[in-house]
Formats: sequence, structure tokens, C-alpha cells
Amino acid sequence: MFIVFEGIDGTGKSTIARRLAKELEDEGFEVFLTQEPTKTWIGKDVRRAIEEEKNGYTQALLFFADRAEHVKEIERKKEKIVLCDRYVYSTFAYQGAQLEKETGIENALQWLERVYEPMRLDPDLVFLITVDPEKGIKRIYGREKKEKFERVEFLKRVQEIYMLIAERYHFDVIDGNRELEEIYEEIRKKVEKKIKGENP
Ligand code: ADP
Ligand code: TYD
Repeated sequence: MFIVFEGIDGTGKSTIARRLAKELEDEGFEVFLTQEPTKTWIGKDVRRAIEEEKNGYTQALLFFADRAEHVKEIERKKEKIVLCDRYVYSTFAYQGAQLEKETGIENALQWLERVYEPMRLDPDLVFLITVDPEKGIKRIYGREKKEKFERVEFLKRVQEIYMLIAERYHFDVIDGNRELEEIYEEIRKKVEKKIKGENP
């Protein structure tokens, strides 16, 4: 079972994935909790590229290098419940937003989807958690005004791209503006249904 959590910064992905992993383990399930960028040296290089604000192509290709290895690991662990905090849809949305200035969004997405195709591994379930970008940023950053404004504008576009591709990749869209407890319960119930083989 391969379950993915997606959404802009501060939607609660990590908190929810961690808690779900623990609860499922307590129930006796074998869980593999993982994230992108990964904790490997390739993942560290990816983080460095983000910090140094490398261009969209550089970042995208580094994310794909990290993922090409990660996909193999997920495949090996598929007997367990794999909970993955960010996956390729982050690249479509974030690097899509970065690259669209240069090539237009449809061309950027087409290129990103083509790079992904040879390593493609479809999840069983993808939760897209949405949030008002200002609210999401407030939850995690304490930065100065200008940086914050630029980040909000960027994340607005990232979230729009997530919504643009939501149908194509069958995202289960979850409203993340609510109390954490309510969001968590909704997701937990859906995951339990999926594990039982019912349609969430
Ligand atoms: P993400 O992984 O999506 O960036 P995190 O899970 O790291 O988000 O959460 C970022 C911060 O926001 C954490 O301090 C977390 O406790 C808080 N948080 C997450 N979801 C909510 C929520 N629905 N309401 C209020 N605070 C939240
Ligand atoms: P992460 O550490 O998961 O941040 P967060 O706690 O906000 O979820 O990811 C680091 C940053 O990398 C985050 O801003 C999203 C970005 N990212 C991409 O731009 N493309 C990708 O493919 C992935 C996986 C992440």
C-alpha cells in the first residue's frame, strides 16, 4: 500500500503522516514512513539546491534523481503501508510554478511528466491538503515581510497547480484550514477504509 501526502508548506502533512504511522503501528501494521526530499545524500544535495535558489531545471532534475532511488525503495517496501510525505506531485506543482515563467505551465508540466514517466510508480491514495497560503506560512515561518509576501504569492500559484492536476491524478482533496484534529480524523478514516479494501 502506497499513500502520499501533498500540499503547500504548513498544511500539516508531516504532523499527520507521523501520527498516522504511529497509530497504525500501534494497531499492529507494518509501516514505512518516508519523505521527499529523502534523508540520503542525494536528498541533502536537493535541499542545498533549494537553499542556493538554483534554477527550476536544476532543482527538478535533482528532485528526480532523489526520486529515482526513492521509487526503488518504496517498491521494495510495498508489502508494508508506505506513508510518503511529498512525492512527484510536489515537483509538478513547485517546479511547475518555477518553470512556467520560462515555458508556460502546460509545457512545463509536459516536460516534468515526461521525465517522470520511466520511473513512474502510482500511489494507491494521494491526499492533497489545501490551506490558505498565508495561514500555512504563519504556521511555520517567522520571516520578514517582503520574503513572506513573495513566498505567499509563490505558494498560491503552487496550490493552483496542485488543483489543476488534482483530477488527472485522482487526488483526494482535504480542506486543511480546519482544526488539526478534524483533518486528521478524516484522513485516518479514509486510510482505514482503503486498508480494508473499501473505497474511501
Ligand atoms: P507541512 O509538513 O505540511 O509543512 P507540518 O505538519 O510540519 O506541515 O505543520 C507545520 C506546523 O503547523 C506545525 O507546528 C503543526 O503543529 C502546525 N499545524 C499543522 N496543521 C495544523 C492545523 N490544522 N491547525 C493548526 N496548526 C497546524
Ligand atoms: P519539506 O522539507 O517537505 O518542507 P515542508 O516541511 O514545508 O513540507 O520540503 C522542502 C521544500 O522542497 C518544500 O518547500 C517543498 C519543496 N519541494 C519541491 O520544490 N519539489 C519537490 O519535488 C519536493 C519533494 C519538495
